[in-house]
Amino acid sequence: MMITNENLTRDRPTFVTHLECGMEGDHYDADVVHGLSKAGRPLLVKYDLESIQKAVTKGELARRPADLWRYREFLPVRKTENIVSLGEIYTPIVELPKLAPGNGQLLVKDEGRLPTGSFKARGLCMAVSMAKEFGIEKVAMPTNGNAGAALAAYGSRAGMESYIFCPDDTPTINVREIAAQGAKVWSVNGLINDCGRIVGEGKDAMGWFDFSTLKEPYRIEGKKTMGLELADQLGWKVPDVIFYPTGGGTGLIGMWKAFNELKAIGWLNGKLPRMVAVQATGCAPIVKAYEEGVEHAELWRDAHTIAAGIRVPIAVGDFLILRAVRESGGFAIAVDDDSISDGLQEVSEKEGLLLCPEGAATYAAYKASLEKGLVSSSDQVVLFNCATGLKYEMPPAEKSLDCTKPIDYEALK
Ligand SMILES: Cc1ncc(COP(=O)(O)O)c(C=O)c1O
Repeated sequence: MMITNENLTRDRPTFVTHLECGMEGDHYDADVVHGLSKAGRPLLVKYDLESIQKAVTKGELARRPADLWRYREFLPVRKTENIVSLGEIYTPIVELPKLAPGNGQLLVKDEGRLPTGSFKARGLCMAVSMAKEFGIEKVAMPTNGNAGAALAAYGSRAGMESYIFCPDDTPTINVREIAAQGAKVWSVNGLINDCGRIVGEGKDAMGWFDFSTLKEPYRIEGKKTMGLELADQLGWKVPDVIFYPTGGGTGLIGMWKAFNELKAIGWLNGKLPRMVAVQATGCAPIVKAYEEGVEHAELWRDAHTIAAGIRVPIAVGDFLILRAVRESGGFAIAVDDDSISDGLQEVSEKEGLLLCPEGAATYAAYKASLEKGLVSSSDQVVLFNCATGLKYEMPPAEKSLDCTKPIDYEALK
């Protein structure tokens, strides 16, 4: 028997009032297609929060199926029929008790359980649903892998044509899953900003809508559900600190937006979490800008790290990331590839949780922050593991046995 998910079938009231330039604050109409603002900066979706407060209660939400569409009143899709879904389930919060010092709590929000194996499903199900609402049929995107995989999946489900450009050292599994899920995909001998240039320069001639990170307004609304869901799962409370692997920064910006919207309607009280932007030492434009006390980051030259998802040399929403980090009393920190690999191994061997390299970067950053006294051992900390570790190359395991000969069991110990 087919189970009907009432989040996907029930029409609910929606509350988008307008969009606003994240930098200049000027207003843009809702319900029309937008890219960046006139100032060339990301647009943020604004809601009638007072009406949301009247329209829905925490108790009502709790009775709905536990998935991303539970939060419809906080999301931009107007018509239920335009929702493009592959089953965006709640992701678990997994505790790492062996690795938490003191009396604090170390938790991992494991986003690898989502469709296409990463949190990019949150952003892309929203952006593709909105594109469907606007009748957009052709989309293009630069990607380090996971976003492209999610666009391929949701785009194909919506019947759209997707054109996707990846740096040529994007993990092979990502490039292949993009192709397997029906998109057109190319490897490019450059970085994600070079791929972005190909999209930007080709979009008029090709009739593409540009789906680059933060160049359309709705991916961030999907990512916002990480914050809504986390607060919901913790009983409408928030942790002391959140460590987030930061590339383009949509997740960090989205969560900060979520917490502020929840605070505005009185669903969260007290201090919001300190937001920590984690980058790799081989590509740390946000960390550099944070340390220099400036509002915008510079292009990072020769970007390199094993954590492909956070290898983003320049981010159009840099000022929004830095604003969230500073407003929250958080910080930005970089970790090197060796500590990312060591962190990955430590968490999987001791706690049985296989992180992706970007997730492992947050664990390495947590350890470094503890040592530096930036966080306390009594804090409740949430690390974001944004993709399944299964998508990445693993260390070799090459021991073999000859089953035609007697087995030396002692030697197996
Ligand atoms: C696994 C993983 N972690 C983190 C990121 C960075 O995400 P954001 O663009 O929200 O900073 C990405 C982006 O590709 C990713 O794939």
